[in-house]
Amino acid sequence: MSRSDKGLIYFQDGELIAASNQARVYKMNNELFLEIGEGHTLWALESELEDYIEQLKDYPKGKCLEIGLGLGVASRYILTFPKVEHLTTIEINRDVINAHSEIKEEDRSTDLAYNANKHRILNANGIEYAYQTKQKYDFIFIDCYDRIDEETLPLIADMYMACSMALKPRGKIVAWLDKYTPGEYYNEFQKIIGV
Ligand SMILES: C[S@@+](CC[C@H](N)C(=O)[O-])C[C@H]1O[C@@H](n2cnc3c(N)ncnc32)[C@H](O)[C@@H]1O
Repeated sequence: MSRSDKGLIYFQDGELIAASNQARVYKMNNELFLEIGEGHTLWALESELEDYIEQLKDYPKGKCLEIGLGLGVASRYILTFPKVEHLTTIEINRDVINAHSEIKEEDRSTDLAYNANKHRILNANGIEYAYQTKQKYDFIFIDCYDRIDEETLPLIADMYMACSMALKPRGKIVAWLDKYTPGEYYNEFQKIIGV
């Protein structure tokens, strides 16, 4: 399953467990799904923890910044790293923040030993925050898009540039890679992140 799959029926067969205007969280087969807006656009699913484990490697440490809260799966995972001092998550959509706060711990399939006290969530545009903050971060995770294509690549490039300004000299940025990204967009993405 990917965020861009159209054939999911979580919103028919699943149970709506949290909602705030445009943001709705469903539970199906013991997994959470977040859709935003009309038309059932899927923005996050709990099974993506596997991608986060693979892509974040052992990078999270020190002062961490994350762009895009979604279901908070990556946030919770980052907060399991003992060397993480604190994590600031920037989320543009207030509905997502509200729906996230309604999710009960027992509804989550991922049982992570994370430190919630080190987490703060801010309602802002990640680009503006990254340019304006005086804080410099050791680790930044960018995940504010539901797919990688000609529409989202400009946003990813702008966000990457903005986050570079908020990074410490030896810091590390990871931008979420959708493993289903077609070759041409994959190559563009790799250029943006300097691979
Ligand atoms: C793919 S979801 C994040 C999934 C998340 N990593 C998780 O573990 O569930 C992307 C999120 O980024 C948010 N977003 C989109 N553009 C943004 C921006 N410019 N600044 C901050 N958040 C943004 C969306 O509202 C959405 O909640």
